This record gives sequence, structure tokens and C-alpha cells, in this order.
Amino acid sequence: MENSEFVWLNDELVPLGEARVSVEDRGFLYGDGFFETLRAEAGRPHFLREHLERLRASAQAFRVPFPKDTPWEERLQQLLRANGLDQGLAAVKILLSRGLAVGLGLPAGANPTLIIWARRYDPPSPAEYGGGWPVVTFPERRTTFVGRHKSLNYLFYLAARQYALDQGAREAIILEADGLVSEGAATSLIYARAGRYYTCAAPSALAGVTIQVLARGLARRGLTLEPVPIPATQMQEAEAMWLANSLMGLMPVSSWDGRPVPLAPQATQYLQECLASEALLCK
Ligand SMILES: Cc1ncc(COP(=O)(O)O)c(C=O)c1O
Repeated sequence: MENSEFVWLNDELVPLGEARVSVEDRGFLYGDGFFETLRAEAGRPHFLREHLERLRASAQAFRVPFPKDTPWEERLQQLLRANGLDQGLAAVKILLSRGLAVGLGLPAGANPTLIIWARRYDPPSPAEYGGGWPVVTFPERRTTFVGRHKSLNYLFYLAARQYALDQGAREAIILEADGLVSEGAATSLIYARAGRYYTCAAPSALAGVTIQVLARGLARRGLTLEPVPIPATQMQEAEAMWLANSLMGLMPVSSWDGRPVPLAPQATQYLQECLASEALLCK
């Protein structure tokens, strides 16, 4: 980010260069906190309510105080305006850490740290959305309850994504310890089989906001996006696959571990339109 940019640090909108967090902040020491990444279009954040609900649920589960009476919409709008992001696409991050608190375990710190920042978002090119992304299976499996939360402890996912990049792929697919497909390093998975849409039900997968709103949009159209546990060995039966997250939307998968996955441009367009119309409906 450039120096002319601003960031919310707790209740203050400060120039990025002046924003300081203590070296004793538990977000830094232990990854003891959570974050949300949202897409904003023309100064309007998408699915803010759903993202805040997930953040609040994680904070509650780990006894991190959730900021009270924060005028979220107003803050996001002010930030986007201050950073000249009231046109085009932006990525907004909301980070909440336990802040300063002494002791192992989950001490009830009274001063959580809240950071909200926004930067311009350059989405993948239309050619990428058309041609899809190759994905590879990350060899390290993961089964942990922390996976169900978007925690600041993101190292596993960074390593998984790097593994994919090193293989010339764009996303890593994470499997649970028992071989069930879980999710991508920064994406949820959707697949089509026998003309129906599914997502992976897995004990450690993050409940994606994109999946949630897409399921809602499909339900409006009389269709379903059903969570089903699926072993990696059965993924070959998929007729098409997509990666989904809040920033990128839906990206088709072009191959998995070098095996081509069929592209289904009409289904891609349908799902993308469905997601876009949910974004228009959201407040
Ligand atoms: C591990 C993981 N799974 C899934 C997702 C997709 O979540 P969402 O649709 O809420 O952006 C993300 C988002 O970055 C993620 O980090």
C-alpha cells in the first residue's frame, strides 16, 4: 500500500504509515485472532453482514471480545472513500486479534485490536476465468477444528498455495486426514455431477461466505448447492469444478493433478450471474 492510504486502527482512521500495533499483540505473537476478506465494488462492500457474522462467531468461540457498537458500514465507506476506492474493485480486510493479554490459553483480554484496511483489487483476467486454473493436491493433510475459522494463523494455507505455485498450478487442494476433499488454500470447492451442484462437506473446512450466498441464490432459482463428503478418489466423476472465494468469485478448475477437468462455460456463467445478483440484493 502507498503512504497516502488510510487504515482503521481500532477507532481511529490513520495514515497507513502511522498505524502501529504492539509487538506484544497476540495476533503477532500467536496468530491469536481472525480476519475477513471482502470484495467491494464501486465503494459498496459485498455480503458484509455474512462476513461479520462469521467473524463474530469465531471471536465468540475463542473468547476474543467482539467490538461493540462499531458502525461497520460507515467505517468501510469512509475508508474506501479516503483511499480513493469508491470506484472499481477493492479488497477489504477486517482483522480482529485478542490484542494484549498475558498467559497461555485464551485469556479474556479487554483490548482487542481491530484493523480495517482496503486496497485496490485486480481480479484474474477474463482469459483466466475462461480457461480455468490448474490445481494440485497439497500432500500435507489437515484435520483441525481451527480450520473452521478464518484465523490469523494462515501459515498452512500460505505453504499450500506456494506448493501449488511451485508446481506451476494456481491453487492447492487440501484433504482431510482421512482423504476427504476439504477446500482450496484460499477457496471453497464447488462441483457438478449429474447436472447438480455440490460443495465438499469436511470437518475442517471454512464455511465460505461465497458458498453460503451462492446456495441462497440457487435456492431462489429452485436449485441446490448441497454439501456432500467426497473422497479425493471420487472427484474424477465431477463434470465441472469451481473454486470460490469472496474476492475472486468463481474460477473454473481446468485440471487436477495434471488430469483435465471439463470446463462448463454455460454453468460458469450461470453461477457467476447468480452470485452477482445476490451481491446486488445484499445491503
Ligand atoms: C481456507 C479458505 N477456504 C475457503 C475460503 C473462501 O471463503 P469465502 O467465500 O468466505 O471468501 C477462504 C477465503 O479466503 C479460505 O481462506
